[in-house]
Amino acid sequence: MNGTALITGASGGLGSAVALELASRKYRLAVHYHTGRNRIEQVTSRLEAETLTCQADLQDKASIEAMFSKVAAWAAGRLDMVVHCAGVTREALTARVSDAEFDRIVGINLRGAFEVVRLSAAIMAPQGKGQIILISSRAALKGGEGLSAYGASKAGVCGLGLSAARELGAAGIRVNVVLPGFIMSDMGKSASEGAKTKARREHLLERFGSPDDVASFIAWLAGAEAVTGQVFNIDGRPV
Ligand SMILES: NC(=O)c1ccc[n+]([C@@H]2O[C@H](COP(=O)([O-])OP(=O)(O)OC[C@H]3O[C@@H](n4cnc5c(N)ncnc54)[C@H](OP(=O)(O)O)[C@@H]3O)[C@@H](O)[C@H]2O)c1
Repeated sequence: MNGTALITGASGGLGSAVALELASRKYRLAVHYHTGRNRIEQVTSRLEAETLTCQADLQDKASIEAMFSKVAAWAAGRLDMVVHCAGVTREALTARVSDAEFDRIVGINLRGAFEVVRLSAAIMAPQGKGQIILISSRAALKGGEGLSAYGASKAGVCGLGLSAARELGAAGIRVNVVLPGFIMSDMGKSASEGAKTKARREHLLERFGSPDDVASFIAWLAGAEAVTGQVFNIDGRPV
């Protein structure tokens, strides 16, 4: 067994690919979902690994804390890796983003990631070892029309990850941030036709990204013991 990993958003397109990849590399997996109970059941039915399924709403601190307590009890207090994939977006021009919608997107993507980092570190620090991988987005670096709330939240995730890496290195905890390409998950499919066309056109191979590319990169990163405090762009669109 390679260790115990928690994957948030494992009911989604990217998180499910990460779960399958880590299961094939002999991790014991806690897989998280929010509303996609059927989807997480489909994912776990394909995992050849010891698995715990847990539900949490990233908008609700108590719910995230309860998930970590459940994972810690299941894993006898040991957690080697957290891959935080859960997130949301909704395209809307800045002038049309309501206060509530801005708060929802930033609350789930950034505040949620903040809680995940704090709770992961609390388990990992006494171990003197662990790693946290946060999924951000190209929108953090390049922005995008209709992506001001999403881009702001994901830029925050980069800042969060880089700061956490500096603070947690002394405790043996690695923190890295991964920016996937444009992937045709539910999130990718929900983008406007204009955004999809632009993403494909900007890719130097004129294609979309693949969840498997990101999942294999994450599996590599898992074993890269000297790598921390980095932002990785797993994409074919130049920065
Ligand atoms: N797809 C892309 O092109 C792309 C590009 C760059 C970055 N990303 C980032 O990659 C990550 C994964 O995206 P994806 O493409 O896999 O999207 P996805 O298929 O839509 O999956 C989103 C995941 O987030 C979970 N989630 C949504 N709202 C939540 C909440 N309130 N609390 C807890 N979990 C919640 C969903 O859970 P349920 O389905 O169970 O409700 C699902 O597991 C996201 O952080 C996204 O921003 C995606």
